Amino acid sequence: MRLFILLFVSTIALFAAPSAYDQGKKLYFEKGCNGCHGISASGSGQYPALAFRRKPFLMAKLKGYRAKQGTTQLSQMMIPFAIALSDTQIDALTTFFSEFKEGSIPAKRDFNIKGDGGS
Ligand code: HEC
Repeated sequence: MRLFILLFVSTIALFAAPSAYDQGKKLYFEKGCNGCHGISASGSGQYPALAFRRKPFLMAKLKGYRAKQGTTQLSQMMIPFAIALSDTQIDALTTFFSEFKEGSIPAKRDFNIKGDGGS
């Protein structure tokens, strides 16, 4: 019985505090990131894929844009979106990207994006 209560309470706690992943997913759509990076974060054309990418790299990029450091002309596009993000939000968003489990397969991944795949 005690175990049951414990399980019950922890289930409620889980519902009360959404995971970083879920917060990131919510933010991704709320902040309009999907408008450029796509509904499955798979990118297209000049918009890089974000799903399955490494968290530290994406965090560094977002913090860079937030500090108005752009490496390319295209980076200018990201700055207004990154400026609006807090550290917690960047953390949640990059958790969402790195742990991506929404089902669809993005065009590019961090690994094996160079070369011809051995064909
Ligand atoms: C207006 C279109 C647009 C929107 C909206 C947008 N991005 Fe981007 N994003 C870009 C472009 C273009 C680049 C590539 C910039 C570059 O070359 O440095 C980029 C790059 C990035 C990168 C770096 C990826 C890499 O491989 O270097 C991250 C991370 C990122 N965006 C996250 C976000 C997040 C999170 C949001 C929502 C808060 C968002 N973007 C909204 C256009 C957009």
